[in-house]
Amino acid sequence: MKEFIIAPSILSANFACLGEETQKVIEAGADVIHFDVMDNHFVPNLTMGSMFCQALRDYGIKAPIDVHLMASPVEELIVSFAKAGASNISIHPEATIHLDRTLQLIKDHGCTAGLVFNPATPLDHLDYVMDKIDIVLLMGVNPGFGGQSFIPSTLKKLRQVKQRIIESGQNIRLEIDGGVKADNIAEIAQAGADMFVAGSAIFGQPDYKSVIDAMRKALAGVKYA
Ligand code: DX5
Ligand code: ZN
Repeated sequence: MKEFIIAPSILSANFACLGEETQKVIEAGADVIHFDVMDNHFVPNLTMGSMFCQALRDYGIKAPIDVHLMASPVEELIVSFAKAGASNISIHPEATIHLDRTLQLIKDHGCTAGLVFNPATPLDHLDYVMDKIDIVLLMGVNPGFGGQSFIPSTLKKLRQVKQRIIESGQNIRLEIDGGVKADNIAEIAQAGADMFVAGSAIFGQPDYKSVIDAMRKALAGVKYA
């Protein structure tokens, strides 16, 4: 398994040319494409449905697509995103009444499953569904917008989740989303993260490769546990 995964969030890409932008960031060294789905109900913003995911696949995007559902309800969206070519689908526990069943629904449709925790959401759900998830995604910001600052208490939470993953003995990725930049990525990795979403840090610069290279350089000094 690759040590560190960089997953640019296309939320901060130019939506007027999303296919080209996605291709460009893959050529710049992205491992995975992070795809933010917001419904103006679960979070105060509105973005892309499954048609956009299908459009990227039809355009020729082959990289894994990491769908982050900030929407409720999620059940029908899971089915439509799986059909549209999603690789991973991550959900927030607050977005479904039957979390165990909904994680199983993601698996049944051939995708890996992620569970997302907002900054103030306790980790208790992990006590019961650790065997059903492939990714734990911690939000470093309150979801809804790109370009926010990383909330420092997330570092402590990362360490707690990393410990739980080690104790479980399972192959689970620890993904971080929100406020990740080249100058804090090493500290975040040190706390346990191994998959990094970055939106504004990458798409806010003209040269995506130089940002991704700077992130990898910062990560090179961190020991992967
Ligand atoms: C926030 C989204 C993030 C967002 C991160 O609600 O889930 O994926 O794109 O953006 P940055 O990296 O700019 O904080
Ligand atoms: Zn996201």
